[in-house]
Amino acid sequence: MLCLRIVLTSLCWTAAVWALLLSVWTDADTDTSVCSPEMYGNDTAAYWACRIQFAHQANWFPSPIAGLFSYEIWNGYDGFWQNGAVLETFVNFLANTNATHTRYTSVIKGGERNLYSLLEAYGPYPSFDDMGWYGLAFARIHEVLGDPQFLQDAEDIFDWCWRTGWDTSGNCSGGFWFDNRFDSKQTITNAQLLQLSAKLYRMTNNTDYGKKMHQIYEFIVYNDLINNSSYLVSDGATANCTAADVYGPTYNSGVMIGAMAAMYKATGFTSYNDLGYKIAIGILEHYCNENGILVEYCNPNCNDDALMYKGIFARNVRYLIDVLDDPIREDYLLNWLDLQVKSNIEHNICDLNPLTKCNISYKDGPAYYNKSGPVFSPDWRGPFTYGAPMQQTSVLDLMIAAIRPGTNCTGKYCNYDPYYPAPQPLTCGSRPCPEGEDCCEYSPYTSYTCCYTNQHCNQTAGICVGN
Ligand SMILES: *[C@@H]1O[C@H](CO)[C@@H](O)[C@H](O)[C@H]1NC(C)=O
Ligand SMILES: *[C@@H]1O[C@H](CO)[C@@H](O)[C@H](O)[C@H]1NC(C)=O
Ligand SMILES: *[C@@H]1O[C@H](CO)[C@@H](O)[C@H](O)[C@H]1NC(C)=O
Ligand SMILES: *[C@@H]1O[C@H](CO)[C@@H](O)[C@H](O)[C@H]1NC(C)=O
Ligand SMILES: *[C@@H]1O[C@H](CO)[C@@H](O)[C@H](O)[C@H]1NC(C)=O
Ligand SMILES: *[C@@H]1O[C@H](CO)[C@@H](O)[C@H](O)[C@H]1NC(C)=O
Ligand SMILES: *[C@@H]1O[C@H](CO)[C@@H](O)[C@H](O)[C@H]1NC(C)=O
Ligand SMILES: *[C@@H]1O[C@H](CO)[C@@H](O)[C@H](O)[C@H]1NC(C)=O
Ligand SMILES: *[C@@H]1O[C@H](CO)[C@@H](O)[C@H](O)[C@H]1NC(C)=O
Ligand SMILES: *[C@@H]1O[C@H](CO)[C@@H](O)[C@H](O)[C@H]1NC(C)=O
Ligand SMILES: *[C@@H]1O[C@H](CO)[C@@H](O)[C@H](O)[C@H]1NC(C)=O
Repeated sequence: MLCLRIVLTSLCWTAAVWALLLSVWTDADTDTSVCSPEMYGNDTAAYWACRIQFAHQANWFPSPIAGLFSYEIWNGYDGFWQNGAVLETFVNFLANTNATHTRYTSVIKGGERNLYSLLEAYGPYPSFDDMGWYGLAFARIHEVLGDPQFLQDAEDIFDWCWRTGWDTSGNCSGGFWFDNRFDSKQTITNAQLLQLSAKLYRMTNNTDYGKKMHQIYEFIVYNDLINNSSYLVSDGATANCTAADVYGPTYNSGVMIGAMAAMYKATGFTSYNDLGYKIAIGILEHYCNENGILVEYCNPNCNDDALMYKGIFARNVRYLIDVLDDPIREDYLLNWLDLQVKSNIEHNICDLNPLTKCNISYKDGPAYYNKSGPVFSPDWRGPFTYGAPMQQTSVLDLMIAAIRPGTNCTGKYCNYDPYYPAPQPLTCGSRPCPEGEDCCEYSPYTSYTCCYTNQHCNQTAGICVGN
């Protein structure tokens, strides 16, 4: 899951670096009155989504150290993957308001990266699911905004995963390996790339994607990854081609549901929708408390990765709702989403004045904009504990999923898209190293490292030498 390499090998946050970063940023126009219920024809979820998105961006985007990364990065996600997955959240807001809403298009479009740039973020072992989040987000962005560059990037990502990560031995009917140690097969990777292949098949008409879609699905069936009595989705496959007896993370079910919706759209077979619905009900029946509120299996000891799972589940439930041809099932799922919305607004929110009372967490130094509420914490039942971008994204995904079909946006703030600075690559010229440590610039990354005090920089080689 986590695989993150900063190009720098050593990074010291001296006063000089902070001063430099802060000096290039100026205050931007952030009028918090921008969101109103009227903008969305009084749709409650859309109104909250608007406010939550505003706070999300103001608090955590961009990261002060954006210039060090080969992908668009937020301040405070714990992994590369979340920076890709959030782009899908943002573009879904446009999609679910009939694209009459264009807020934050710069964040979405600014997230475009080619395969090479994304691979640069890795070392030494890529995990294919991390790439999968970008592939899915890029495909969705193309679907909503019609930008062919995003489609090309999504294809490149899928093709690379297939070339590098598909088990061609024929064992267990294939399957994607988790990473290039080639020693385990996790469901998330296979569910993601199933969903992506189905989308690419539909969007390009390239039958090769259709063939691969069927191969991935065959692997999932052959290994019983979707339990045929509980409809819970196992976390992975064993070397014996059976489902691992590990159930729980809601994103496995979520992305599988989205894959079913995408396969239905690609093939017209309603049996995929039926299966998707059963998988959704599997989670609703097994992972909700007595009031119907979703509780992640690891709660309250989830790692930062897992804090985003519930939102990914909700996001994919909406993809299913969008293709269901059954008003009863549609209403059932929409009402369940409404229940989650209500619980978050009543029990899991912090929107105090001053907002400093809300305990907001950052990873890369202070926010660029003024802090803003509302912020949310990880447990959808509440109470509020602390704000961070993982759980904020989760609730934002939920709100966007719960927007009533047919909702539009009207008014000038539908186009709100604040300026934010381009990443500033740091160099030795920024004097980033502490007293007594040589700064050493190296290629091809035009980046630098700080040498130990008992070393000095060989400028020609771009490496620290000495004891
Ligand atoms: C940020 O907050 C300060 C102090 O309250 C205020 O003066 C300033 O106008 C705010 N900046 C923006 C961009 O809202
Ligand atoms: C939204 O609610 C306001 C205040 O209750 C009302 O005046 C307005 O007509 C409503 N708009 C729509 C589209 O329902
Ligand atoms: C907007 O709504 C119309 C009418 O329901 C629909 O035909 C169209 O596909 C929608 N567009 C988007 C981008 O959702
Ligand atoms: C395929 O299965 C055989 C027999 O269990 C095993 O020896 C071989 O290493 C497997 N190949 C791969 C790529 O896992
Ligand atoms: C794919 O084929 C369908 C049906 O023939 C057609 O409507 C659609 O425009 C094609 N899409 C592309 C990208 O070629
Ligand atoms: C389905 O799940 C049940 C309960 O967890 C388990 O006992 C059963 O073995 C699973 N079935 C398969 C085919 O994995
Ligand atoms: C469920 O899966 C198990 C294991 O693959 C299989 O033996 C059983 O026949 C399946 N049951 C149904 C109802 O499909
Ligand atoms: C695979 O099956 C063998 C033989 O039944 C068993 O000993 C082994 O523990 C199984 N491995 C896994 C990963 O389930
Ligand atoms: C604020 O949140 C952090 C988690 O990010 C937690 O460790 C800390 O105890 C919280 N502080 C207060 C005052 O609640
Ligand atoms: C939303 O916009 C679409 C296309 O612009 C239009 O067809 C539809 O009637 C609008 N819906 C509402 C509720 O205004
Ligand atoms: C610096 O590195 C270059 C290239 O590796 C090497 O030729 C040169 O001798 C080194 N200079 C010193 C002072 O170590």
